[in-house]
Amino acid sequence: MTTAAEFVGVTQRFGDFTAVDAIDLSIPTGQLTTLLGPSGCGKTTSLRMLAGYTQPTSGRIMIAGTDATRTPPERRGLGMVFQSYALFPHMSVAENVGYGLKLRKVAGPERTRRVAEALDLVGLGHLAASRPKKLSGGQQQRVALARAIAIRPTLLLLDEPLSNLDARLRVQMRAEIRRIQAETGLTVVLVTHDQDEALEMSDRMVLMREGRIMQEGAPTEVFTAPANRFVAEFLGYENFLVLSDGATATIRPEHLEIDGLATAGALTLDGTVVDVAYRGVDRLVTVDTVDAQGEAVRLMADVRDEAVTARPGDRVTVSAAASRLIRLAA
Ligand SMILES: Nc1ncnc2c1ncn2[C@@H]1O[C@H](COP(=O)(O)OP(=O)(O)OP(=O)(O)O)[C@@H](O)[C@H]1O
Ligand SMILES: [Mg+2]
Repeated sequence: MTTAAEFVGVTQRFGDFTAVDAIDLSIPTGQLTTLLGPSGCGKTTSLRMLAGYTQPTSGRIMIAGTDATRTPPERRGLGMVFQSYALFPHMSVAENVGYGLKLRKVAGPERTRRVAEALDLVGLGHLAASRPKKLSGGQQQRVALARAIAIRPTLLLLDEPLSNLDARLRVQMRAEIRRIQAETGLTVVLVTHDQDEALEMSDRMVLMREGRIMQEGAPTEVFTAPANRFVAEFLGYENFLVLSDGATATIRPEHLEIDGLATAGALTLDGTVVDVAYRGVDRLVTVDTVDAQGEAVRLMADVRDEAVTARPGDRVTVSAAASRLIRLAA
């Protein structure tokens, strides 16, 4: 696997504040890498350093194996789509897409060909002559993508490109970006704070917190083995408890059983049902219990077995196979 870009000990300070704290990160060629994390964790700052709009306070940015830390943005060969993708209102869709090529002095016929190619890729060939304001939000987003792709970037950087779209379009565009990435083999770095988006779209996901990388890996790796409580909570885990050996663990609701058959070495706790939420295919049963450290904990079990008749107030046993417990570092 080759590396398209690399952060080597990169720090960004704004006055006393450290926005990005000595990160080391490789961006694999031809893959889609997402930077994921809560607001303010340093995602945009990292992307801007990669693009060359900001200089790191210390550390190096490598692109295609060479030190690009001091290379100006226009010489890095990158395409970028920002959250607020500004299209030029007085230009047609085709002119918008061709804009970067014109700046790069790509000759007329070649430009026309590449614009048509980029518009085809995003499925907007038929709207080449339209003005942006006549397009829907999703179509405008595609134009912004086509504009970034037309220059044939070595790296495509996308900063929350879907956040202006409604929920349905956002889901469509996720698949669309995946398809374009697969068809072109482009290396893509996508910033998002939406864990579903990251899980669905990434080849690799990088979870950040307060300027540091908490965990990176393929979505299945990160989701099935979150490294710590922050990562687990960010990915939606809600059941946390301390085990008899003092380790903190989390467990998915679908792996907890109510009045199930406890096996040796398994987790078994007595508790009281406080809520049952019927959800069609399953019921989410909330149980108040006490963990091995004597701490009160609230656990949620996703129950599919119709034979289980849990009602609020019932005393129940909550159990899980030992293999289902995910042990967390602090
Ligand atoms: N030019 C700047 N001057 C001072 N502080 C800045 C500057 N740019 C960013 N910051 C701070 O650095 C931190 C990281 O900002 P950044 O924009 O990278 O966050 P983010 O992860 O992209 O967040 P969001 O999800 O809200 O876009 C924030 O606390 C922000 O306030
Ligand atoms: Mg941001």
